[in-house]
Amino acid sequence: MTSESSESSESPGSSPSSTGGGLNRRRVLGGIGVGLGVGAAAAAGSLLTHDSDSSGHAAPAAADAAEASQIVDFRGTHQAGIATPAQDRLCFAAFDVTTTDRTQLEAMLGTWTFAAEAMTKGRTVPGDAGDLESPPNDTGEAEGLKPGNLTITIGYGASLFDSRFGLAARRPTLLKPLPQLPKEDLDPGSSDGDICVQACADDPQVAFHAIRNLRRLGTGVVTPRWMELGFGRTASTSPAQATPRNLMGFKDGTRNIDARDAAVMGQHVWIGTEEPQHWVRGGSYLVSRKIRMLLEQWDRDNLNDQQNVFGRTKATGAPLTGTKEFDTPNFSAKDASGETVIPMDSHVRLAAPENNQGLRILRRGYSYTDGIDPVTAQLVGGLFFLAYMKSPDQFVTLQRILGRHDALNEYIKHVSGGLFVTPPGLPADKDWGSQLFG
Ligand code: HEM
Repeated sequence: MTSESSESSESPGSSPSSTGGGLNRRRVLGGIGVGLGVGAAAAAGSLLTHDSDSSGHAAPAAADAAEASQIVDFRGTHQAGIATPAQDRLCFAAFDVTTTDRTQLEAMLGTWTFAAEAMTKGRTVPGDAGDLESPPNDTGEAEGLKPGNLTITIGYGASLFDSRFGLAARRPTLLKPLPQLPKEDLDPGSSDGDICVQACADDPQVAFHAIRNLRRLGTGVVTPRWMELGFGRTASTSPAQATPRNLMGFKDGTRNIDARDAAVMGQHVWIGTEEPQHWVRGGSYLVSRKIRMLLEQWDRDNLNDQQNVFGRTKATGAPLTGTKEFDTPNFSAKDASGETVIPMDSHVRLAAPENNQGLRILRRGYSYTDGIDPVTAQLVGGLFFLAYMKSPDQFVTLQRILGRHDALNEYIKHVSGGLFVTPPGLPADKDWGSQLFG
């Protein structure tokens, strides 16, 4: 089993072995649906604690080790999907709450919790077997697929803490709309949202399946606002992972935070005792940005200029002052003509902690594409930027500088964005509903 030693502890009775050892997708959530009202979460929870025999399916004799190693613990101190080594694929959705009934919302969050927990263990949400008159409860496309290191991470936007559900007094202090930042013109229709869900997995169908089933379980309570598919991670969250390349062909994530470093995560990523709202301590703020790359324009640029835009060498990822990827950039080095080797307007110089009072964020973004622009025939794609931090000000400070001075701006356009608070991980006796409403 993939375990996040620094952040997770499995709830009693919920490990694959204690639930009967069956690790292939099994049906354990019979009868879960929205509108179950109070007690739905508890009912769902009790279903989950049953082994596979209780759902009428035979329990395999022994856990399959290969599949077990693809399960990321769902419960723990922090939510999975933040410090978890970045998986290859993403499906991300933001929802608006359509009900005005607080009880319904709380019940749905309970239902989501237990469905999410099941799916991360490689299980499906069951249909009523043999009932030809009803739609199956699980949409079915993940049947037979491996768990794929699926993580499902929930977040809440500032709008959820308005007057609708009595949550104003529980609003995390720093959760408010981001200020207007330089040179940006974000599309409000595909930005923000009351609730966001980040599903990451090594299999795109597993990630999509997770969002699709939550969306289905949320019918009548939430409606999707926008959704994004990420097809390749653009960040390493641990040096144990090879650094991937973004769509501009550069290694991305070289100097990202090493999420295994608890001290650094505590300093820059996890919300701590500075936050008066106890319930979000151990969580993190999540900034999303859909950043389109002007790929045709970039592809016409010469290599020297491309490297100067980032301040790094394209082939190796080394800083322009070094030879190897992980060499520390020397921001004061000058060439024979007295110019800084790493240009003053290069992306890494402007974003580096050395030049920003030590400020750091945990980047966890993915490449995306929306196909071809029907009018211009240009490729539409870029970076779906996701970053976790202790305070949204970390992003605001960086983006104020990047938005004004970054040489990269010639080749990118921020299209939409969101700010969410992701609460801490769940203990064994809680679900997302009881955590949010207290
Ligand atoms: C399409 C947009 C972007 C692209 C293609 C991009 C790409 C890169 C690349 C290739 C690196 C160097 C390798 C590394 O250390 O990861 C880097 C570093 C970095 N980027 Fe970006 N980035 C983008 C947007 C942003 C934004 C919006 C922010 C934050 C507001 C940001 C923050 C950083 C930070 C903090 C670093 C590390 C700098 C260092 O410590 O050396 N990036 N980015």
